[in-house]
Amino acid sequence: MAEVSQAVISVVPDDEGKEKFKKSHHVAFYRRQIQGPNLQHRALLETLVLTEKGARLELLETATQARLLLSLSPFKCDTVRILIDELQPIKARYRVPDVMTEEPPCEQLRVETQTKDSVTLSWSSGRHRVHVCRFPFRLEILCENEVMLTFNSKSKLWFERLEDPPTSELPGDHTLWKETFRQFVDVKANGPSSIGADLCLHGFSHVYGLPEHSDNLQLRDTRGGEPYRLYNLDVFAYDLHSRLGLYGSVPLVVAHKPDRTLGVFWLNASETFVNVEYSTTDHQDDQTPPVKKRRVQPQTDVRWLSESGVIDCMVLLGPSPRQLFSQYAQLTGYQALPPLFALGYHQCRWNYDDEADVKAVDAGFDLHRIPYDVIWLDIEHTDGKRYFTWDPVLFPEPANLQRHLEKKKRKLVVISDPHIKADPEWSLYREARDGGHFVKDREGQIYRGSCWPGESSYLDFSNPATRAWYSRCFMLDKYKGSTSSLFVWNDMNEPSVFDGPEQTMPKDAVHYGGWEHRDLHNLYGFHQHMATVEGLITRSGGSQRPFVLSRSFFAGSQRLGAIWTGDNVATWDYLKMSIPMLLSLSLAGIAFCGADVGGFVQDPEPELLVRWYQAGALQPFFRGHSAKETRRREPWLFGEEVTAAIRTVIQQRYCLLPYWYTLFHQAHTSGCPPLRPLWVEFPAEQSTFSVDNQYMIGGALLACPVTEPGVKEIKVLLPGCEEVWYDIHSSKAHRGGGALSLPVTLDTVPVFQRGGSVLCRSEGSGSCTADVQQLPLSVTVALSSQAVAEGELYLDDGHSFRYRDGQMFCLRRFSMRSGRLLCRSANEEGTFDCGTIIQSVTILGLKSKPSTVVVHVSGVTDTAAAFQFSETSSKLTVHGLNLRVAADWEIQIG
Ligand code: GLC
Repeated sequence: MAEVSQAVISVVPDDEGKEKFKKSHHVAFYRRQIQGPNLQHRALLETLVLTEKGARLELLETATQARLLLSLSPFKCDTVRILIDELQPIKARYRVPDVMTEEPPCEQLRVETQTKDSVTLSWSSGRHRVHVCRFPFRLEILCENEVMLTFNSKSKLWFERLEDPPTSELPGDHTLWKETFRQFVDVKANGPSSIGADLCLHGFSHVYGLPEHSDNLQLRDTRGGEPYRLYNLDVFAYDLHSRLGLYGSVPLVVAHKPDRTLGVFWLNASETFVNVEYSTTDHQDDQTPPVKKRRVQPQTDVRWLSESGVIDCMVLLGPSPRQLFSQYAQLTGYQALPPLFALGYHQCRWNYDDEADVKAVDAGFDLHRIPYDVIWLDIEHTDGKRYFTWDPVLFPEPANLQRHLEKKKRKLVVISDPHIKADPEWSLYREARDGGHFVKDREGQIYRGSCWPGESSYLDFSNPATRAWYSRCFMLDKYKGSTSSLFVWNDMNEPSVFDGPEQTMPKDAVHYGGWEHRDLHNLYGFHQHMATVEGLITRSGGSQRPFVLSRSFFAGSQRLGAIWTGDNVATWDYLKMSIPMLLSLSLAGIAFCGADVGGFVQDPEPELLVRWYQAGALQPFFRGHSAKETRRREPWLFGEEVTAAIRTVIQQRYCLLPYWYTLFHQAHTSGCPPLRPLWVEFPAEQSTFSVDNQYMIGGALLACPVTEPGVKEIKVLLPGCEEVWYDIHSSKAHRGGGALSLPVTLDTVPVFQRGGSVLCRSEGSGSCTADVQQLPLSVTVALSSQAVAEGELYLDDGHSFRYRDGQMFCLRRFSMRSGRLLCRSANEEGTFDCGTIIQSVTILGLKSKPSTVVVHVSGVTDTAAAFQFSETSSKLTVHGLNLRVAADWEIQIG
């Protein structure tokens, strides 16, 4: 319980009444930039050089005559990179490694016009242009003559040049080289090194992104409040509606207006603040001379401020949300395709006490006919919080336990945190110490901080050799008691240091290459996640897809695995907040995300637990978890009504797995996340822009989980005047274009299938994903108002990398038009025949009863099929089809 009280302390101000976490006014570099003067910069147009990668030119800060080097690269994926560094730094400044997958190919720039005051550069089609103004320096990005974005619009460009340390005590601002927060002193080896810039997004009045904060989906205007902070922190039971940085950071802002989606990616891993200001300007439309029209145009100003590194700002030009997702994925990578089991339900608790407890919980799922795939072990499974070990009394036979689960095709996940107990008696500690794998303090000694095991040292995952060493720790012969059905959970990797400033590592700790922790703080968890993933892949000889959950993350973490939203609380407000939090993560590429179902801290009332399961079953990563001091809450502990309600939604999740898996395949290949804000699917509908209590699951389903107690009726916005929406439970059709009032009971989970889509489900039930994989499928065709529909289905073996070999997957397209449903290949290469059968087809929205339904399979005689038609719900059902998914077939409705 010592650990628990440690965690509880984290929300309570200390005895002097001071909060544990900083506000922006505590942060010296933020104060310097906000209170500092606007620095005028001049673009030295005469220094412009066109290169293979774009263009370079110098900027002059007029007051100090300091020179900066601006590099401009137009990537082929409609993204413009603006990189600014010192022209001649006294030493290199940190550039974020490992996040960009590879530098995308560049377009060749050409000078379109040049005057003494400005230069216009264009590329390829000439659709996009960059206009650089000499003084004051501005950089505009235009599309078809319209300025979309202005960089340095408000002259907030800020670049503190590195200098040698002062030889004597500084007069005036002492915080340049040393800063104190509470009892913590931060000695800045490089002195002031902060950077910043502002951008104006013209015509935009909605911006999103910048996870992780517990706040609305649409970013707030920060005037008069705190800026968004990106600084990975362990915040137990975090406050709601706060801009304090939580466990991970993705420095991506996504702006949207009806005809364009735009992104700004600020690649910097040091502490970063972002200010957002919405306003309007009187815009003179000079394209229509002689009558110059004036119109009021919205704009959003976004100002970025970071403690160190360089300005590396990428503008993603969209114009559609889908293109934006693809552009971002080309920079930072696509969502990893999870093994199928990872999309099932996960049962976690801090802690399952011993082997008997694990077996009993596992058996409980079977007894109550609730499917699940993975049971999790928290820190107490180890021998004294030494990761990679097992408590000899509680878990004497871990490999047998895994085999017991594996017989039922279930998995075990264990926790592995980045702190290593400082115990010279422990061989793993000695190996890490002797191999030079720990982070150092500013004096060059191994850094020590306190975490779950007490005194600990922290692995330096920024070091490729440390990552390789850590990866090897997961080899089956090294990690005693592990088997290939064990997967991993990386926690506390912000990193969390109980006795560190803001409960994290001091910024003056020193990493591989001599970089200060300050430079790479937000990358720490990403690098641990990366090493763990590598370890699991290597353990399988490169053949099996890994599963690793991480609490901390950065841009690019989507390539590695899953993320969850940390230590939430079992209250209705946290349930409600989980939706915008997961949508923000999804927009920023982190598509495999979830929140602790039931709430981690405190005990949920049964109604809340049920509602949380209903919501969680409709979110990508679906795991029940609870803190140590809470009461047990396995789904069958609250009476039959609650058990039945939870069973129903978990079973429905399992039935929908073919759809979830297909969506993950899409995320893996296109970057488009499974969870989407409504505006992603309805980009021109203003009424959807601020909605964050409902969302789309792929293009076909709209979900509006109930997140309030005692609800009898719920309002659901069904967008699109031309759309038809079918209640998936009653099949009832509703016209889009307004809000629907839906009566609800405890069992109601409002989900609607969009007319025009085709969805596959597994038919029947099983005890885990491997069972469900063997089940036949049912296809639901939801007709649009034009009586057409289409959809895809992706299948493979569910666990290996063989889908990459070309043939070992199957991608099918269903399309319905003129009364004919076709099943065809959507990718000729994929010839994997998993033997999956389609047993039934349901068509929603059929106007009248057909006289015949004829099934045609290539090379086989046509057969008339028996069918049922319901006049009241305009629903046609054809059972007993026995059609192979992998074969071409069609159904003609006569
Ligand atoms: C942290 C995690 C939580 C975990 C606990 C003990 O609080 O966020 O999920 O159960 O540590 O490891």
